[in-house]
Amino acid sequence: MPNTTDSTDRTDRTTTDADEFTVTPYAVEGEIDYEKLLERFGADPLTDEQIDRLPDHPAIRRRTFYAGRDVDRSLEAAESGDPHAVVTGRGPSGPMHLGHVLPLYLAKRFQRETGATVYVPLSDDEKFLAKELSFAEIGEHTRENLRDVLAVGLDPDRTRIVVDTADADVVYPIAVRLAKHLTPATVEAVYGEQDTVGLQFYPAVQATHLLLPQLVAGRQPTLVPIAVDQDPHVRVCRDVAAKEALPVEKPGALLGRFLPSLEGPGKMSSSGEAASIELTDDPETVAETIRTHAYTGGRATLEEHRERGGDPSVDVPFQYLRFFFEEDDGELERIAREYRSGDLLSGELKDLAIERITDFLADHQRRRAALGSLADALEPYRLTREERTAALESAAVPTSFRG
Ligand code: TRP
Repeated sequence: MPNTTDSTDRTDRTTTDADEFTVTPYAVEGEIDYEKLLERFGADPLTDEQIDRLPDHPAIRRRTFYAGRDVDRSLEAAESGDPHAVVTGRGPSGPMHLGHVLPLYLAKRFQRETGATVYVPLSDDEKFLAKELSFAEIGEHTRENLRDVLAVGLDPDRTRIVVDTADADVVYPIAVRLAKHLTPATVEAVYGEQDTVGLQFYPAVQATHLLLPQLVAGRQPTLVPIAVDQDPHVRVCRDVAAKEALPVEKPGALLGRFLPSLEGPGKMSSSGEAASIELTDDPETVAETIRTHAYTGGRATLEEHRERGGDPSVDVPFQYLRFFFEEDDGELERIAREYRSGDLLSGELKDLAIERITDFLADHQRRRAALGSLADALEPYRLTREERTAALESAAVPTSFRG
């Protein structure tokens, strides 16, 4: 079923019945019904055919990324070797967790397989407005997060990293142009009531992020792989982009489920007290965190487990393997089978997850440690002077005071 509307006037916040849930960039509450959410948001489930054509990645094969908007546009461009972009960002409100890098590693896979240009914006402005943190604290998180983004190992020739306050010369004038079409009523309908005018304005900034590859390098399909809570930003962007006659097409989206939090279902929260695995954790910390905090689908006693078996569908160590860390489908199926039969114990399944996560983090941390000074490491990823001018010119916003 093609998605024909991007209506931003429907209300995403539903707070009535017990089985209701809220998903916006600023509030995720209740038990999320991922299928119902697509109806609410007006996005389409990925078809088998699309999954075949997308890069082969476990998060896609296993439908962690399960829905989208205009995915075919990007597939067509990738298949015919035409320019296309991927945008996925980070809100630097704290240390980065496993769940936060999934879209970045997915973007890397796209870049390697389809030659996509990748943009990674960091919304330090958004997090200053949304969290009880000073700019000094946000700045510290931004620097640490940048190291993690750089450690992903995206190709600097085809990747741009943007920090809102540091690249305000480009971001701000374009955001202003888009903000002209963002009414308080739309913002309230899509995001709920916002505490400050700062947060009411921010959607124009994220819309700028999503259009930036096209403003820099010309009209091209743009895919935005994100967790579902960020889809409202995509929808707003698609709306406002159509209202200003900009030389861009509407960005598409690839929508992902949340990585379950260690303690059970729900969003992996960076601000809450919930235990989580940070990208800088050493192997002992990873092991300790999983052994003491991970919710398991195992039985209460050894005898019962041997007899009745465990439930991989709620077991967090298993879900981590499924989302990301066990790429081999046959191996994953074997693990599930042995767990269900009771041959594999929860402790053994935890050890498997610990091993895979530790291996993954060892590579990430090795690249992170090799970066040297942040300014030098970041330099090849920053927008060039020509790219800045190109973006401002295609958005027809002032460039005249430059240089
Ligand atoms: N708003 C996102 C968050 O809070 C971060 C972000 C900024 C982003 N710009 C983006 C994500 C563009 C995807 C695409 O996590």
